Amino acid sequence: MDLQSLAYALTQVAHNFGAVAVVAAPLFARWPRRADETVRRRLAWLVLAGWMVQGVSGAGFGAISYAYYGAFPDIHGIAVVALLLKMACAASGFVLALLVLRRARAVSAPRADAVWGALLLLGATALTAAAFLRWYS
Ligand code: HEM
Repeated sequence: MDLQSLAYALTQVAHNFGAVAVVAAPLFARWPRRADETVRRRLAWLVLAGWMVQGVSGAGFGAISYAYYGAFPDIHGIAVVALLLKMACAASGFVLALLVLRRARAVSAPRADAVWGALLLLGATALTAAAFLRWYS
């Protein structure tokens, strides 16, 4: 069995499910109707875990390349911008999800909606950047 392909495939499995979590959970928190506080709290944990998985598995792609080729993938231009954007989204999404978990009870419903909207935007932006990273690499 080709161990390198297996490592990439398993990392991609984690990365794909992480992507689902960071996009779907914020969507479900707001749509088709505002989820209640208990549900939102569970969704916030899911989003937090999702952003962590994205960061770790994203770094995993780089680590596998380094382990097999002694170098990180050689990317330029739009691919670099897309990767940096994904990393910025992951860092911001992680912090925002933490804030939701710590401060949710202290904020008004409209503000909470806005924060969930921001989380959705970060997830959608990272998912869009993923396509550019893939095809400009
Ligand atoms: C620290 C954050 C992240 C890093 C370092 C990272 C890194 C990577 C790398 C190196 C790849 C492989 C690119 C290729 O096939 O050429 C990849 C693929 C992918 N990433 Fe990320 N990523 C991060 C966050 C995210 C996030 C937040 C999402 C979605 C919300 C995401 C979605 C995807 C998807 C869907 C692919 C597969 C693209 C394809 O092959 O069509 N990534 N990522």
